[in-house]
Amino acid sequence: AIDIEKLRALTGAITLDPGYKNSGSCTSDITFLDGEEGILRYRGYAIEDLAEKAGFLETAYLVIFGELPTKAQLEQFETDIRKYTLVNEEMKNIIDGFPKTAHPMGVLSSLTSALTAFNPKVVNVENDKEMYEAVCKTMGKFLVIATWTYRKMMGYPLNYYDNTKGYVENFMHLMFELPTGPYKANPVVIDALDKLFILHADHEQNCSTSTVRIVGSSHAGLFASISAGVSALWGPLHGGANQAVLEMLEAIQKDGGDAAKYMAKAKDKDDPFRLMGFGHRVYKNFDPRARIIKKAADEVLATLGVNDPILNIAKQLEEAALVDDYFVSRKLYPNVDFYSGIIYRALGIPTDMFTVMFAIGRLPGWIAQWKEMRVNKEPIGRPRQVYTGYPLRDFTPMEKR
Ligand code: ACO
Repeated sequence: AIDIEKLRALTGAITLDPGYKNSGSCTSDITFLDGEEGILRYRGYAIEDLAEKAGFLETAYLVIFGELPTKAQLEQFETDIRKYTLVNEEMKNIIDGFPKTAHPMGVLSSLTSALTAFNPKVVNVENDKEMYEAVCKTMGKFLVIATWTYRKMMGYPLNYYDNTKGYVENFMHLMFELPTGPYKANPVVIDALDKLFILHADHEQNCSTSTVRIVGSSHAGLFASISAGVSALWGPLHGGANQAVLEMLEAIQKDGGDAAKYMAKAKDKDDPFRLMGFGHRVYKNFDPRARIIKKAADEVLATLGVNDPILNIAKQLEEAALVDDYFVSRKLYPNVDFYSGIIYRALGIPTDMFTVMFAIGRLPGWIAQWKEMRVNKEPIGRPRQVYTGYPLRDFTPMEKR
């Protein structure tokens, strides 16, 4: 047991809060989150309104700059982002150096960091104009390199941004256009992706966002801070949940596809199995994002007419859980990761790419939080600790150890 009095005597009065469950690291004007009530707002606007009425870049502008853009501002933002979607050709040599089997999140983190070499101004932002340029450069280049991680994994030639298409449509073009023929965008798919990216745009001081802020607090540049955020998001406890959903569905299918059997396993208190994609640590009544994305998932599946046994299992689990006493009484509803996993699967995006999708959506939040921290001139993040090691010991000479 920890002897608190002894520790105090050694270290002075320090608040100990592992995982920062009760510690605010900053003040922020960006995102309001109330898990009990199921509320998520960006800059005061309800997530439901933004998902229904705004586009992803419009939401990104709001999250980063604090106000909804006028039509002219949004057009300018889109044009300025487009200007920076060309990635230095030498970056391709870096991608070539990775094995095809490299995980896309590792590649994405490395490539984001490598961007610092070709964009020194993003390292050292000195005024509003440079800040705006850094924002547009990051929004433009990150989307392109994120899709390149997929092209690398598949062994496909790398694609360039198509200036005749919008940002979200470009994602599909960059990912899926092959030399054999152009990718034909389906508006229902683009709309669903647009919503998914909006729903992921920010979630206050989560692990990756806190990482971006703490790395940036040493005045490291935007690309370096975001590269660290990508690494934090990579972990299965953070960005890996939708991948876990798909892996569970695949395991159920391999085992005969009996959804009812796995429902029973999830309810059995002697069985550690949990239904992935159900329940949420913060949203205790419902996840407002899940409601919005369930509708989009239903539309995507109906439009594409996919007949996939994995997705049928997902549907069975969802329907069973929504009327099952165990799940209803514990308020265990399908969360955003459950539906995002389904949509990505229906679009043919491999599970290894799911966290990259999350990163593309989260990018405006990371940028906004980094910018806020710099504009507010926040001090360097430097937590203390409570030392629990040895007191002073006499040095033992080598021959006596
Ligand atoms: N399947 C079956 N039972 C569950 C599940 C589940 N997915 N989730 C919670 N329960 C049960 C628990 O066994 C517990 O039952 P009890 O009251 O009889 O003991 C009750 O519901 C409450 O669960 P807690 O573990 O107290 O809830 P907690 O807030 O700690 O956990 C969590 C939330 C981790 C998300 C959990 O619901 C879970 O493991 N879900 C599956 C994994 C998942 O989808 N994670 C990603 C969510 S997104 C995110 O949180 C970043």
